[in-house]
Amino acid sequence: MQSDSVKELFDRSVERYDENRRQLIPCFEEFYRTAAELVSFRADQAFSVLDLGAGTGLLSMLISERFPRACFTLVDISGDMLMKARERFAGQSSRFSFLVKDYSAELQGSFDLVVSALSIHHLEDERKAELFRSVYSVLGPEGMFINADQVKGATEPIDRIYRETWVRQVQESGISEADFAAAEERMKADRMGTLEDQLGFLREAGFREVNCWYQN
Ligand SMILES: C[S@@+](CC[C@H](N)C(=O)[O-])C[C@H]1O[C@@H](n2cnc3c(N)ncnc32)[C@H](O)[C@@H]1O
Repeated sequence: MQSDSVKELFDRSVERYDENRRQLIPCFEEFYRTAAELVSFRADQAFSVLDLGAGTGLLSMLISERFPRACFTLVDISGDMLMKARERFAGQSSRFSFLVKDYSAELQGSFDLVVSALSIHHLEDERKAELFRSVYSVLGPEGMFINADQVKGATEPIDRIYRETWVRQVQESGISEADFAAAEERMKADRMGTLEDQLGFLREAGFREVNCWYQN
């Protein structure tokens, strides 16, 4: 099953995961900063956040630094990735809880904000659309969903340019052959969809103000 192989791939790569993020995501700073800055609560507000495919907790960490009263539920299918997140947030158990599960199965609870970084592209398009409906159902009327993810080019030539540019930038970053090979192995589980299709799925799910705020 697709989600089992995703779990194994991330369980296997957890040790080197945080270390080579910046090399594998050439636009790392802007990418995560844009996602975190879009959160439109007051800095002193208390609100609840669900992080889908939270991994080692990178995006939750950036948001939590801006919002010291926000509470986070981090979900991931890889218990090993979430273990790193537990270590990252050790000593802050009142603000962070952790759930090892496949988020495409179902979402429960009620949240003010749902976020996700570089995770939903592991689902086939039909399941992305189902997940967006499920995200909509756990958000309140003023809720917000921020999905920072990688997408497929709208046409084959555009997709080829995305891929070639990424390979060149990553290789120029000085990444080791082993880390690059491990990333390529993980990417076999990618099921990227186009930006247009995903904006459409969000509208169909009921989201009102749908936009792409940053693209690289
Ligand atoms: C590339 S990592 C991103 C982690 C983190 N969000 C970040 O930005 O560093 C993708 C994460 O999504 C998780 N994941 C993928 N599909 C999932 C699913 N269906 N349910 C739960 N977690 C999933 C993987 O286990 C992995 O930890």
